[in-house]
Order: sequence, then C-alpha cells, then structure tokens
Amino acid sequence: MSDNGSVTPEPAPGQPTTDRVKGIFSAIAPSYDRFNRLSSLGIDRWWRRKTVRLAQLRPKSRVLDLAAGTGDLTMAIARQGEPASIMSTDFVPEMLEIGRQKAALFEGTTRIEFEVADAQDLPFGDDEFDVVTIAFGVRNLPDRAANFREVHRVLRSGGRYVILEFSRPRLKPFRALYHFYLRTVIPFLGGMLTGDRSGFDYLNESILAFPSQVTLSAELHKAGFSSVEWHDLTFGIVAVHVAVK
Ligand SMILES: C[S@@+](CC[C@H](N)C(=O)[O-])C[C@H]1O[C@@H](n2cnc3c(N)ncnc32)[C@H](O)[C@@H]1O
Repeated sequence: MSDNGSVTPEPAPGQPTTDRVKGIFSAIAPSYDRFNRLSSLGIDRWWRRKTVRLAQLRPKSRVLDLAAGTGDLTMAIARQGEPASIMSTDFVPEMLEIGRQKAALFEGTTRIEFEVADAQDLPFGDDEFDVVTIAFGVRNLPDRAANFREVHRVLRSGGRYVILEFSRPRLKPFRALYHFYLRTVIPFLGGMLTGDRSGFDYLNESILAFPSQVTLSAELHKAGFSSVEWHDLTFGIVAVHVAVK
C-alpha cells in the first residue's frame, strides 16, 4: 500500500522492477557463481568466450561491462581480449565486490576498475568507450530503451554494443524440453543452493518473457544503432547481439 492509500500492483511474472532485481541479486551474490556453473553445466564459460570474440577487441580498446555481477565476463574480457581498460559496473555492490576480488588476482596488463552504476543511467561521458558489453543483464532492466539510449551515447562512433542473453530456441521440441528444464530444475537447484527459490522463479519467468532475437534487433535499430546482427549459441538458448553505433 502506498502513502496515498492506493494499492501497488504486484509486478507481472518475469517483469523486472528495480527493487525486485536488487533484492534478488544482493541475496544470491554468494552462491551466484556456483549456481551458474551447475545450472548451465559449465557451458556459460564457452558462451562468454564466444562473446569476447565477437567484441573484436584491440589492445587500445576501452571497454565498459554493464550489469557485470561477479565479474565473469569482465575477467574473460581481460584474459582473452586484453584491451587497455575495462570499467566493470553493476548496481548491486555485493555482486561487484566478488568481481573485485577476482580482479585482485589478475596479472595481465588490462586496467580493471569497478563502479556501482545503473545500466539505465550511466555516469560516463559521451563517446567514452569503444565497446560496451552486457551478459545476462538486459533481461533484468525495467527500461531497456533507456539502456540502449545510454549505451549509444557513451559509445564512440563505430563502437560495438555486445549483448549476451537468454533467447528463444528455434526448434520447437527442443524449446519445450528447455522450458521444462527452466520451470523445474532451475528453481530446485537455486532453492537448494540458497535456501530461497522465489528469486529463481523470477529468473525463469524473465527468461520466458524476454523478446525474440528479431524483436530485440528491431529495438536496437530503433535506438539508433546502424547495424545489428545476432549469433545463436547452443540452439538459441542464448544469443549474442552485436549492435554497431
Ligand atoms: C544474471 S546477473 C549477470 C552477471 C554477469 N554479467 C554474468 O554474466 O554472470 C545480472 C546482474 O545484473 C545486475 N543488474 C540488474 N539490473 C541492473 C541495472 N539496472 N543496472 C546495473 N546492474 C543491474 C544485477 O545486479 C546482477 O548482478
């Protein structure tokens, strides 16, 4: 109930709200990496490696990693892409802190910095980055259009926005099997690791509610990106979209 007496409606299944998303990720931060490895059977590492390749990094690249969480994509970029710098950001400090601990063990030349930031309202100047990345983060944004506008602003002309996200498998029988896995195994695993399965019900619902590859591409075009392509991985369970400013 709000101050003026009106009842605030429950968000629809899979619909992100800022409070809901912050609450879920601050609670699961300590178990997040273990959950990822188990639920994807380790394939998430390969998805991240493929994402780094598609980012086409160069030694002078300045990279911004959004919704970086515990820093798995940030660290894959540093190790495999070896850009000049990575700004790793997330709006949940508990998640970012785990990334910071991983970066402290890194011995390469890439400069890695961390900043708490909302992906829909970026505290960076225009044209500051050559590449912006986001892995499994776009799905959690209540206002995707605001994120696309902001990324377009902070990228230099010709810069790339590389999005790794759950998507829509094309083959129907496979899709049915995958949805069964999402509805049963994921909440069970999440509940076992954290003692609370409700956040994992949200994660599933948000995957099922997320737009197809074609619709996401259309949204990126509408935000002003000049070219957009996508690459399905593991039969389209995830897709990497690459949008060029
Ligand atoms: C599923 S995790 C992905 C973490 C990491 N990128 C990875 O690949 O493992 C989603 C992350 O998005 C972050 N997030 C969600 N909404 C955000 C927002 N509006 N601004 C910044 N971070 C956000 C959450 O805090 C969480 O750490």
